[in-house]
Amino acid sequence: MLEIQIMPSILAADIGRLEEACKHAERSGADALHIDVMDGHFVPNISLGPEVVRMARESVNIPLSVHLMITQPDRYAETFIEAGADTVLIHIEASCNVEEILHNIRKAGARPGITINPETSVTMIEDILQQQLADEVLFMTVHPGFGGQRFIESVLSKINAIREKYPELDLSVDGGLNLETAVQSARHGANIFMVGTTLFKATDMTSEIAQMRKQTLVAFQPFSLSSK
Ligand code: DX5
Ligand code: ZN
Repeated sequence: MLEIQIMPSILAADIGRLEEACKHAERSGADALHIDVMDGHFVPNISLGPEVVRMARESVNIPLSVHLMITQPDRYAETFIEAGADTVLIHIEASCNVEEILHNIRKAGARPGITINPETSVTMIEDILQQQLADEVLFMTVHPGFGGQRFIESVLSKINAIREKYPELDLSVDGGLNLETAVQSARHGANIFMVGTTLFKATDMTSEIAQMRKQTLVAFQPFSLSSK
């Protein structure tokens, strides 16, 4: 049975108080932390690295979902697993043998996930899903690289298409999520929500997460029933 999971994306946290932000997210009811890694090449921005993952691992007890927006995930995936990543999400658009690296992530003891950009067709990930190489599909609902962007609605039909074929697979969304867009995503079959700006700018993260969990659970209900 799939679970609804809310994962704060610490890219939106106060960088000067990152450790406290991780603990705050955990105390507020986060199911896991989402950590964005950018190399200034795959995306036009540079963000967090393995030392931040290590810090998070030492600060909280919830799982860490590490999103690699880097050109060569094959060179770095293991470093992030050693640092404490539980899930490693790589991009189908990366310049590497994606199938091999998903396999290696699993072999190294982490949970492999495949990420797909808004303009990439879902046919690109069909083989990977058929071979069960990924335990999660992360749908980018913004162009990767920056927090605080607007949710791209055209991604919703792609989520729906994959949900219809894979009723038991974790489907996550990342970018531009608030209560409304998270509920929209759940209605199209998403069960995991990576949320940056909305949660870290909220005056009460606990109630924001609780509300989002409650409403996405209701919106996701038709899928959880059909997957029984
Ligand atoms: C974007 C990142 C997202 C980002 C989401 O490239 O992958 O995880 O932090 O931030 P918001 O929720 O602010 O769009
Ligand atoms: Zn992300």
